[in-house]
Amino acid sequence: YVIGVDLGTSAVKILLVNKDGKVCQEVSKSYPLIQEKSGYSEQDPEEWVVKTVEGIKELVQGFDGKAEDIEGISFSGQMHGLVLLDEQNEIIRNSILWNDTRTSEQCRQIYEAVGKEKLLSITKNPALEGFTLPKLLWVKEHEPENFEKASVFLLPKDYLRYRLTGQIHSEYSDAAGTLLLNVGEKKWSTEICEIFGIKPELCPPLAESHGHVGNITSDVALQTGLAESTKVFAGGADNACGAIGSGILAEGRTLCSVGTSGVVLSYEERNDQDFEGKVHYFNHGEENAYYTMGVTLAAGYSLSWFKDTFAKDEEFDSLLAHIDQVPIGANGLLFTPYLAGERTPYADALIRGSFIGMDASHQRRDFVRSVLEGITFSLNESIEIFRENGKKIDTVISIGGGAKNETWLQMQADIFNAKIVKLSSEQGPGMGAAMLAAYGCGWFSSLQQCAEHFVEAVKTYEPIEANVGQYQKLFSLYKQVYQQTRELNE
Ligand code: XUL
Repeated sequence: YVIGVDLGTSAVKILLVNKDGKVCQEVSKSYPLIQEKSGYSEQDPEEWVVKTVEGIKELVQGFDGKAEDIEGISFSGQMHGLVLLDEQNEIIRNSILWNDTRTSEQCRQIYEAVGKEKLLSITKNPALEGFTLPKLLWVKEHEPENFEKASVFLLPKDYLRYRLTGQIHSEYSDAAGTLLLNVGEKKWSTEICEIFGIKPELCPPLAESHGHVGNITSDVALQTGLAESTKVFAGGADNACGAIGSGILAEGRTLCSVGTSGVVLSYEERNDQDFEGKVHYFNHGEENAYYTMGVTLAAGYSLSWFKDTFAKDEEFDSLLAHIDQVPIGANGLLFTPYLAGERTPYADALIRGSFIGMDASHQRRDFVRSVLEGITFSLNESIEIFRENGKKIDTVISIGGGAKNETWLQMQADIFNAKIVKLSSEQGPGMGAAMLAAYGCGWFSSLQQCAEHFVEAVKTYEPIEANVGQYQKLFSLYKQVYQQTRELNE
C-alpha cells in the first residue's frame, strides 16, 4: 500500500491505495482560510500538520493490515504559498497563499527590475500576484523584521513533508511556480535571487517528485501509527499531481480539473515552446517533462461561495439536482467567476465577478446553472489560447468538482467542443501523489506504466452540435463582460 496526501486549499485529503491502484480508504479534514482584508488569503501551516497527522492516524486505525504494509507516502500540494522558517525551522508568519492578490505592486517591480522578456526566458512565466517571489518581496517590504529572520522558504506541501520527516526539500514541479526557478535548466536562478537581494540559502534543496527524501520520524510514527520504515517521496504541485493521477503523461493529453481554482493543462515534452507567457509553463512531476496551464482563480470556489451565501445548509448534490431542467443559457442569466480577480487570460487581480440579465422570474437553479456555465466559459478561455497557439484539443480528461455531475460534464463537452472523458476515480492530485510513491517504491518502471494500471476511463461525453452553437454565441457575450466591467473596480 501507499498513501497519497493532497494538501488542498480547503482541506487535506488522504488516500490509501493498493497495488491495483484502488482507493481502499479515504479521509478528509478541512481547515479555514484566513482573510483579513479583501485580496488577502492566508493559512496557518501548523493547522496543515495537525489535520494531516489526525487524518493519517484515522486512516491507519481503519486499516486492517500491518503498518509495515504501508510502504510509502507522497504529497500533492496547493501551489505557490509562501512558508517562511527561521534558523530553528520555526514558522515566522502565516503562509500567504496562491489566491492572495496583495502583491500587484511587487509584480510591477519584478517587471521593472528584470524585464518581461528576460523573466520569461528564465522562469518561463509572467509575474503574477499568486506566485511566490512577489509574496517574498511583499514580506521584505512590509515586514522587514520577518524577512530578516527567514533562513529558508518552503512551499505548503514541502513544509508538511518537513514536519513528517525532519528533512527540508522542495521539488521541481512546485519550485516552478515560485518565479525563482530556471525552469528549463532545473536549478534556482542565482540571477533572479541576486536582483532581489535573496540569499541563495533561502531556496531549499531540490529533488525529483518521485525522489526518496526521507522516512517518517519516530515521533510522527508514534502519533499516526505509521511504521518508521515508511518511505517518504517528495511529491508534486497539485496540478502536476492531478496530471499524473489522470494519466496526462504524453504529448497531446489535456486535463480540466476543478478544485478551489480550475485549470486546463496540457503535457509538454519540450521546454522551448513559446506561449509568450499567456499560459503558465511548469515542470511536470515526471522527470524532464513539462506542462502548460491556464487558471481560473475561482472555479469550485465560485460554487462554494454561492452555496455558503445562498444555500448554506444544502449539500452540493441537492444544490445541483435541478440544473438539467434549466435550458442552456440559464434563462438569460450570465455569470463571470471573477470573485477574487482572474488569471488566464486577463492576469487581473482587481476585476470582480457579475451576474448579468437577472429577471424577477429567475429561480435559484437558474443561478446555479449560470455559475457552472460561467466557470466553464472561463476555462474555455484557456482552451482557446491553446488552440490559437496550434494545439489540437479534441479530448479532455475531466476531474474534480466538474466531473461529479453529469450535466456539468456534458456542458464541458459542449462549451469546449471536445470529447470529455470521465475516469473511474476522479481523485486526481491525491492519486497522483500515491502514484509517485508507488513509482518511488519501485512497483513500476515508469509513471506511464503505473498509469496503465491505475488510471481507467469509464465514460465519454461527446459534444452535441446544436448545443455547441448555442454556447458559442453565449461565450462571445461572456468575453465582452470583462471589458465592460473592469472600470467598476479600478
Ligand atoms: C496554479 C494555482 C492553483 C493552485 C491551487 O497556478 O495557483 O491551481 O495550485 O491549489
